[in-house]
Amino acid sequence: MTHRTAIIMLIMFSPLFFCQDKDTDKKPNTFVGAETCGLCHKTEKAGKQYDIWKSTKHSQAYKALLTPRADSIALARGYKTPAIKTDECMGCHTSGYKADPTLLGAKFHVEDGVQCETCHGAGSNYKSVSIMKNKEEAIKNGLMIHTDRESFCVQCHNEKSPTYVKQDFAVMWDKIKHPIPKSK
Ligand code: HEC
Ligand code: HEC
Ligand code: HEC
Ligand code: HEC
Repeated sequence: MTHRTAIIMLIMFSPLFFCQDKDTDKKPNTFVGAETCGLCHKTEKAGKQYDIWKSTKHSQAYKALLTPRADSIALARGYKTPAIKTDECMGCHTSGYKADPTLLGAKFHVEDGVQCETCHGAGSNYKSVSIMKNKEEAIKNGLMIHTDRESFCVQCHNEKSPTYVKQDFAVMWDKIKHPIPKSK
């Protein structure tokens, strides 16, 4: 192996290669927490996404695992652990679960359940206003938007959920939608 291929291989197999974007100076995206997104996504003009999210079940998804009902669901699945300590449950009911702790910012709270960054991706690199205003740049910096919403939702809303009941997608979306007002 030549010196050059050795170096290329070293770079390719270094863990940093996989978690960094192409721009070598870019830090990996960390979770900043729903409140941070809410700093800008709270006003009438922006579309009150934070308040809408707060009023949905997604913001309560962690708390739902603290109930006796949740523990009995976990028990019925054969788990000896309470729901809140059961990996399978936590995976769908929280954000950043099992992520490297260094990727969880100080303002990120697992207790916020299914939050902005569960669906839009960890936000430290795209949350600045200059990047946010430019959709293309935001996406380049890790913002996830979903053109096929339904197949995204089905990643959690499926038969693997112990309480799953098939629902009409349009009705589900209507309960959580949080659009930017058109008349800006
Ligand atoms: C510093 C203010 C600010 C923060 C913090 C912020 N945003 Fe934004 N965001 C904006 C602005 C401004 C826009 C553009 C709104 C417009 O087009 O009217 C935007 C747009 C968006 C869009 C729509 C993109 C599109 O065009 O389809 C999404 C999704 C989004 N933000 C999610 C988030 C999430 C998730 C967070 C937290 C990780 C966050 N934002 C944090 C200001 C912010
Ligand atoms: C359960 C998943 C989910 C959660 C939680 C969620 N969003 Fe979204 N959001 C979506 C989907 C799906 C869309 C529509 C497609 C797209 O633009 O990504 C959307 C759209 C948006 C838009 C663009 C709306 C438009 O009219 O273009 C903004 C802004 C936004 N979300 C911000 C947020 C913020 C801020 C939070 C947290 C307070 C949040 N979202 C929480 C899934 C979610
Ligand atoms: C990361 C997993 C996850 C994703 C992705 C997700 N959800 Fe959920 N959703 C949940 C969990 C967990 C609950 C239950 C929370 C509770 O009851 O406390 C829930 C609850 C809901 C509810 C309220 C329950 C009901 O029957 O009325 C609606 C509506 C909903 N989600 C819509 C959506 C839509 C629409 C999308 C896609 C844009 C989506 N969800 C994506 C995990 C997710
Ligand atoms: C594949 C993703 C997924 C997994 C795994 C999952 N949940 Fe959920 N959970 C959801 C979704 C989505 C909802 C809301 C709609 C529904 O009931 O399907 C929900 C709703 C709930 C609710 C509130 C609704 C109700 O009927 O009380 C409880 C409690 C709950 N889950 C407990 C658990 C427990 C306990 C586990 C682990 C044994 C678990 N979940 C595993 C996705 C999941």
